[in-house]
Amino acid sequence: MKKILVTGSVGQIGSELTLALRERYGNDNVVAGGRKTQPSEELRNSGPFEIVDCTDIEAVNRVVVNHRIDTIYHLAALLSAVAENNPQLAWQVNVNALVNVLEVAREHNCAVFTPSSIGAFGPTTPADNTPQDTIQRPTSMYGVTKVSGELLCDYYHEKFGVDTRGLRYPGIISYVTLPGGGTTDYAVQIFYDAIKHKRYTCFLKQGTKLDMMYMPDAIKGAIAVMEADPRGLKHRNAFNVSAMSFAPEDIAAEVTKLIPEFTMDYEVDALRQGIADSWPNSMDDSAAREEWGWQPDYDLPRMCRDMVEKLPPKLT
Ligand code: SER
Repeated sequence: MKKILVTGSVGQIGSELTLALRERYGNDNVVAGGRKTQPSEELRNSGPFEIVDCTDIEAVNRVVVNHRIDTIYHLAALLSAVAENNPQLAWQVNVNALVNVLEVAREHNCAVFTPSSIGAFGPTTPADNTPQDTIQRPTSMYGVTKVSGELLCDYYHEKFGVDTRGLRYPGIISYVTLPGGGTTDYAVQIFYDAIKHKRYTCFLKQGTKLDMMYMPDAIKGAIAVMEADPRGLKHRNAFNVSAMSFAPEDIAAEVTKLIPEFTMDYEVDALRQGIADSWPNSMDDSAAREEWGWQPDYDLPRMCRDMVEKLPPKLT
């Protein structure tokens, strides 16, 4: 029987992944871990919730021992723009806390899922059809922490036999919890502003192509890679995964098909534009497809239709 801990469970991915895991493995078998932010009622009422600051190894150890955890989805992390504004804290949260989780996992024989990101690539990485194994010299602190995390997870697997696995997520689009300060957040904000105000001012400029994914696919991928037969895995951590790749004008055109009055203008934020320019346009995710059957369900039009259908009730 799986006993799962999700760190960062009140964040954008955690708030939905925790509920999906509870549905799959049983409510009482999935502990939602959060640092401070209050969990939603649904998260709190559907299963155990524990305050866990992952920068404190004793706190991680305590919850793993008390709940006899055997699998950790370690989602607690700072996103790219926030990390760039506080690089020291980003190292603490994205790297030191991961080391704590890996150490506790080693001690108690837990499997660990850790998300990496398109941010693990940099300006010298091939930007189109970015290979699974390629140059990784990121120029953002977020990227530095993500490459470090990938290497640490590989190391703990090879050196100590910890069952570490992970995905390089692109920008994640969702309607339950807002992302907390990333470069791809515009692709979520556009829907809130389109529905409320029929207009949006985008902080990335036209032509900035990035990989993206709708939340149901992000959840499906996390669960699938953790359930994959290890004998099929040549890679373990940091699988490239993508579902779509678009620039701001592409998503705006799609939103306009659903909300005809919608208009978008641009006010470029230099920090986030610089980060976006250093990331790939589109990743090659064939290793994930071959090794554990990755297959996204949502392309750009299908994702936009679902967002425009599901978001309005949340805004009232
Ligand atoms: N969505 C993330 C960010 O923009 C990228 O992994 O920071």
